[in-house]
Amino acid sequence: MSDPYDRPQFYGRRRGRKLRPKQDAVLNHGLSEYSITSEMLADAPIDPRQWFDHDIDRICLEIGFGGGEHLAARAAQYPKTGFIGAEPFINGVASLCRHIDENNLNNVRIWPDDIRLLLPLLAKRSLQAVYILFPDPWPKQRHEARRIVQPAMLDLLADHICPDGELLLASDDPTAKSWLLANAVRHDHFAWQASSAADWRQPPADWPGTRYMRKAEKAGRKSAWFRFCRV
Ligand SMILES: C[S@@+](CC[C@H](N)C(=O)[O-])C[C@H]1O[C@@H](n2cnc3c(N)ncnc32)[C@H](O)[C@@H]1O
Repeated sequence: MSDPYDRPQFYGRRRGRKLRPKQDAVLNHGLSEYSITSEMLADAPIDPRQWFDHDIDRICLEIGFGGGEHLAARAAQYPKTGFIGAEPFINGVASLCRHIDENNLNNVRIWPDDIRLLLPLLAKRSLQAVYILFPDPWPKQRHEARRIVQPAMLDLLADHICPDGELLLASDDPTAKSWLLANAVRHDHFAWQASSAADWRQPPADWPGTRYMRKAEKAGRKSAWFRFCRV
């Protein structure tokens, strides 16, 4: 049976290059140790703090973590914060599993699927911050419905981010920048935190960066960071 979020599909592909045996082993071990299982979702709505073995001061979610570099670096920077990462691209999941193992992180849980299948099961106001960094831009107008930051997604996020919590959106693509900003600014529950151009031209302080951000820098494209507060 297909899930209700099959269409429109926001992500491009679920599998890339065939994983080498070692990567496959890291992935399988990681999925058994770090992923969010259906048992963990049995009593929805769930407070995700219960998924961590130690005291967690807050929960942050990264949607579309790609290779997981940013998520793993944040998790190492903030060991008392619980991080949830959602990514349907299995090669990216394998990469995050490797980062978790190499850095001995015990504050990351992985959702290896579409975030739209997880978010409605989480308790409302349970997230302190949500990051959507360099999402697939889908620049053609006929693909507009595939852009991840839709009004319905913002409604879901507004339900799950706690008051005064943060939504951070970033992109280097001109169409995506306008789309992200216009949709989030229009939403009643998100207030843009920029007071000058420097606020969106500069990444946040202590920013570890992402793979797509570095690709954009190499190609000479300028990135924008849009910080919103849940009001
Ligand atoms: C262009 S990549 C950017 C990856 C990473 N954030 C970076 O900056 O390097 C966008 C990622 O979002 C993921 N994605 C798209 N739709 C998603 C969804 N509904 N739930 C979770 N991840 C999604 C894609 O699989 C893809 O890996």
